[in-house]
Amino acid sequence: RELIHFDEIDSTNNHAKKIANDGCPHGTVVVAERQTLGRGRVGRLWQSDNNQGLWFSIVLRPDLEPEQVQIITLAASVAVVEGIFRDLGINCGIKWPNDIILGNSKLCGILTELSAEPGHVNYVVVGIGINVNQSFSEFDADIQDKATSLQIHAGKKISRVKLLAGILTCFEEMYNKVLEKNTKDIIDRWNKYSVTLDREVKIVSRDMEYIATAQSVAPDGKLVVKCKDGTVREISAGEVQVR
Ligand code: BTN
Repeated sequence: RELIHFDEIDSTNNHAKKIANDGCPHGTVVVAERQTLGRGRVGRLWQSDNNQGLWFSIVLRPDLEPEQVQIITLAASVAVVEGIFRDLGINCGIKWPNDIILGNSKLCGILTELSAEPGHVNYVVVGIGINVNQSFSEFDADIQDKATSLQIHAGKKISRVKLLAGILTCFEEMYNKVLEKNTKDIIDRWNKYSVTLDREVKIVSRDMEYIATAQSVAPDGKLVVKCKDGTVREISAGEVQVR
């Protein structure tokens, strides 16, 4: 497997997309000690200007329809949870759509980016950011009440190299399930780690807002919710706020 390491870069996802456009092989991993422009979901910034986390991106070239790619993010969430458990014996949870949480705080975020044409995926970049050795005071003020790190939880420094190797091994196992179309196993594991299920979520769509109960995640990655009137709906990521 090809692994490209940087001391500093704008964003490992940006670099991964660049080399993917230039034809780098499937499975290439880009990892950086720190990012100057780490990106989060929905245009947010991801604080990663320090050497204390694990900031990496994986380039994939799956033979899937663009609509099937969502399962890869679910597979990555499961791989992070299982990789952390195998290496450190720490139990994390998944908060829909793809936050990894420890206690009630965010430990890891995943940003999947896709280059596709109708019916064909050029490449997928799965970007994973895990807070590993930060202390509370190293988090920016605006995330201090929301973020945590493995070191804060474990009370000791954690080896980032060993953790990365373990998570990549788990990801490979989960990715093979994606290719084998063993979606059920991925979804079952995801649901097992989910902390969102049975909780109330707020759905905000274009013309209305309502409260529903999260029930499960569907094979296409949508959240299945039960509304107060008993109807069951599938909701896509942009529309759900987990309370
Ligand atoms: C989120 O908003 O929860 C997703 C955060 C994803 C951060 C990771 S760090 C490695 C990769 N490079 C980026 O710029 N973002 C992702």
